[in-house]
Amino acid sequence: MLKEVVKLLKDVKAFTPSSEEELEVFRISFLGKKGHLNNLFATFKDVPKEEKKEFGKSINQLKAAAQAKINDFKGSFSSVENEEKIDLNRPVPSSNFGSQHPISITKKRIIEIFNNIGFSVSRGPEIEDDWHNFSALNLPQEHPARDMQDTFFIQTAPDILLRTHTSSVQVRYMENNTPPIRTISPGRVYRNEAISARAHCIFHQVEGLYIDKNISFADLKQCLLYFAKEMFGEKTKIRLRPSYFPFTEPSAEVDIYWGLKSDSDYRITKGTGWLEILGCGMVDPNVLENCSIDSKKYSGYAFGMGIERIAMLKYGVKDLRLFFENDVRFLNQFSSL
Ligand code: PHE
Repeated sequence: MLKEVVKLLKDVKAFTPSSEEELEVFRISFLGKKGHLNNLFATFKDVPKEEKKEFGKSINQLKAAAQAKINDFKGSFSSVENEEKIDLNRPVPSSNFGSQHPISITKKRIIEIFNNIGFSVSRGPEIEDDWHNFSALNLPQEHPARDMQDTFFIQTAPDILLRTHTSSVQVRYMENNTPPIRTISPGRVYRNEAISARAHCIFHQVEGLYIDKNISFADLKQCLLYFAKEMFGEKTKIRLRPSYFPFTEPSAEVDIYWGLKSDSDYRITKGTGWLEILGCGMVDPNVLENCSIDSKKYSGYAFGMGIERIAMLKYGVKDLRLFFENDVRFLNQFSSL
């Protein structure tokens, strides 16, 4: 018996597995249910009394040696194999980076152009009250011009609505600041309009406001000419057409000369060569007074444009809905900008 244990101990010491499978066979043959050790423990009761002590000691030694062997080699094969599979020099597959949305690109450019001539950026809430969106802007209740912008109202709170323009931010700005004021308000606006290639119920605007002493219409025109040239190129020409907005007097719409080079130019300019890009005017004295600014001392101009419209012209996009659909085939075309 003891001889057998000594022989097995030798085997254990000599054993060097060359694979995980070999080690497992070794484990089962020594420590498994029907392995050597269990067999030896089973014969323990037949061992003569005086040998029991030494026999017990030797099988415990054998067990410890077998276990130590397993511990030494366990896991070492699989990690060697894995290491061989990993090529640390292999270039990683390139990941797809997102790109900026054309509306963001256009908005940033507009902001940059006005930042360069001293306009700061102001923001306000998209859920507005009647005062900031309409009444303060010279559009009292029942004013017919409220129909110019179909509005989403909150049914349970008739005074609360989704802002139809970012002029509401300018009212807030005038209420909280004193002239000189030079600010632009970019943001999302909402109108209850049927969705088509040219209109959407949600779009983006940048509106501008300049209030100081002795501000004239000539300042407004010069500012917008500068903007048009920065946005559409040095040779850009603009024209101002008389228009109407309740919050400005006089009011105008600004066109840029697009040209009549192709059939589509005829179509989009309705044969005139001119394209409207924004609305503007001198801030109505009533609006200044509503915001506690002395209209005898101060005057100012305001303008507002749709970012989608500017982006459509700049990038030749024919359908406004493309900006909202997140089709990557459309968005990828702007990835280098
Ligand atoms: N708020 C106007 C609109 O949304 C644009 C505008 C702004 C016109 C400022 C004149 C002056 O249509």
